[in-house]
Amino acid sequence: MVEQKNSNNVVIVGGCGHVGLPLGIVLASQGWSVALLDIDATKVETVNSGRMPFREEGAETVLKQVLGTTLKATLDPACLRSAAVVISVVGTPVDRHLNPTVNELYGSVDNILQYINDGALLVLRSTVSPGITRVIYERIKLLGRDIDIAFCPERIAEGNAMEELVKLPQIVSAFEPRALRRSRELFITIVPTIIELSPLEAELAKLFTNSWRYLNFAISNQFYMLAESCGLDFYRIYEAVTREYPRMRSFARAGFAAGPCLLKDTLQLSAFSGNNFFLGHAAMLVNEGLPNFIITQLRSLDLATKTVAILGMAFKGDSDDKRDSLSYKLMKLLLIEAKEALCTDPYVPDPRLVSLEEAISRSDIIVLGTPHSVYRDLYIPPEKTVVDIWNYWPERRGNAAAATAEAVGGTRRS
Ligand SMILES: NC(=O)c1ccc[n+]([C@@H]2O[C@H](COP(=O)([O-])OP(=O)(O)OC[C@H]3O[C@@H](n4cnc5c(N)ncnc54)[C@H](O)[C@@H]3O)[C@@H](O)[C@H]2O)c1
Repeated sequence: MVEQKNSNNVVIVGGCGHVGLPLGIVLASQGWSVALLDIDATKVETVNSGRMPFREEGAETVLKQVLGTTLKATLDPACLRSAAVVISVVGTPVDRHLNPTVNELYGSVDNILQYINDGALLVLRSTVSPGITRVIYERIKLLGRDIDIAFCPERIAEGNAMEELVKLPQIVSAFEPRALRRSRELFITIVPTIIELSPLEAELAKLFTNSWRYLNFAISNQFYMLAESCGLDFYRIYEAVTREYPRMRSFARAGFAAGPCLLKDTLQLSAFSGNNFFLGHAAMLVNEGLPNFIITQLRSLDLATKTVAILGMAFKGDSDDKRDSLSYKLMKLLLIEAKEALCTDPYVPDPRLVSLEEAISRSDIIVLGTPHSVYRDLYIPPEKTVVDIWNYWPERRGNAAAATAEAVGGTRRS
């Protein structure tokens, strides 16, 4: 039996993930009646018990307020039958040949179509390869379905979703005026500014956003490696060039540029360009090469005889998300090159990790993998060598680099 369609009903497909859940909570807090449809039973249960399946600042409090009134999580696609708006945020990974995979997205759209009523608005929110919105639009039109299709990319940074979702301008796009109007009407209930683009422009806008960030980090990481490889302290130069010099304001600090989005989206843009996105390729080599650079530096400290601790395994500070984290790449390299690798993180669930105390006490060398706030005032005994690519502990900076410089005969200004 087809349920009565309620014009306020939103279903988010992939609703218990990093993008879907904060969006669902925010929409529910604005009075929308939201169902979070997911295939992960554990996450659905966690959300329905009022807990977040991952760290997201401020989200759990609001989740508890809206749960059971305007928000619920479910495994049952029948919820789609009453949806006026369906938002799809399933993952869009790249494959082992570095090409975007859309099977998950196509499969999910094909699957949900049998439940969605004509007249509904389907918003694609996953980051997609340019042209995918048109493919989906044409597939649905070919089926003779009267469903409005829009592409409205998510641009939040994990961890800041609750703040950014209601602050950042929302890009909306569609092939038809009705779909564009409806997506504008949806998002204007949570954001102050709507920006309209064509679907292809919007797809590129999202990929440009993440690739731009990734390229910026690569510049800093490349400069870091250049300076440190000749025994200089990168951050002395960094501080000199950024001080009272407005044109260097966007110069990022060095650090692991990782996570589920930046590399993947640079790869999506690269595949779209027919592998002619040379800057993107260079950025990948630089950013993915940073753990290798650390290993090369540490070799001069007789690495094979040393126990190395990695503090922080999440891909970024204060997160529990380890997807595509470069700390794990470093761990793999250390397992080959060092006497022992001890990894620790206060938030990442992984049975291979050890406690912070053990990592510090048993190691000779400590690498800061992730600048979690809880590490800010950490006491590290002075005899330990510290590698801090982030300059998170300026007072400890240079311990390893100084020793390396001495070992390779380089000079280092102190
Ligand atoms: N994580 C971010 O910060 C971020 C930011 C902007 C955009 N994005 C994009 O958003 C998309 C989703 O990313 P994410 O980080 O939220 O991923 P995620 O893995 O955290 O969430 C995806 C969710 O979809 C569920 N799912 C998978 N297949 C499903 C299906 N067929 N039906 C219902 N649910 C299904 C999964 O169980 C999971 O809960 C990706 O395209 C990503 O590039 C992510």
